Amino acid sequence: MAVKLIDHGSEDYKKMVALRFALLRKPLGLSFDQDELDAESKDILIGCFDDEKLEGCCLLTKTSPDTLRLRQMAVISGLQGKGIGKVILSFAENIARDRGFKKIIMHARKTAIGFYEKSGYKIIGNEFSEVSIPHFVMEKNL
Ligand SMILES: CC(C)(COP(=O)(O)OP(=O)(O)OC[C@H]1O[C@@H](n2cnc3c(N)ncnc32)[C@H](O)[C@@H]1OP(=O)(O)O)[C@@H](O)C(=O)NCCC(=O)NCCS
Repeated sequence: MAVKLIDHGSEDYKKMVALRFALLRKPLGLSFDQDELDAESKDILIGCFDDEKLEGCCLLTKTSPDTLRLRQMAVISGLQGKGIGKVILSFAENIARDRGFKKIIMHARKTAIGFYEKSGYKIIGNEFSEVSIPHFVMEKNL
């Protein structure tokens, strides 16, 4: 297993978009629009690979000079619960620290709250609906 940065527009990026579509959008009847994907050229894109195969991913979007928002965290269905998500999250936090950021926030799906809590994230605020499912804002100081 190797966690690494992904270049926007690369073959690995295409794999990342396909994984995110399959795991996060298709089950909700949603897709990506091109503007959304183009805007990701500014983001920090992260993938976990076994040789050429992408097993999981996330991305980080700058929301203020000291804060990144973690988005689009997903591990392929057959490999969930084996520690891959935790490794990706830890890699994302290390990149964020290395680049001088002080905090990571996210809109966490209610079903994933326990996963983020295990890595030290705390819920702030009330439940809200996004992409038609319940979410909470979570944050962690790095
Ligand atoms: C949420 C997700 C990214 C977690 O990745 P994962 O590789 O399955 O998680 P890990 O195996 O690294 O789990 C790390 C720890 O969190 C726990 N955990 C994982 N998913 C959990 C969940 N949904 N609820 C509660 N705890 C969870 C694990 O039991 C493990 O605990 P441990 O350290 O005590 O053993 C993955 O399950 C996934 O892609 N889910 C579907 C898409 C999704 O919901 N993405 C999040 C959008 S906000």
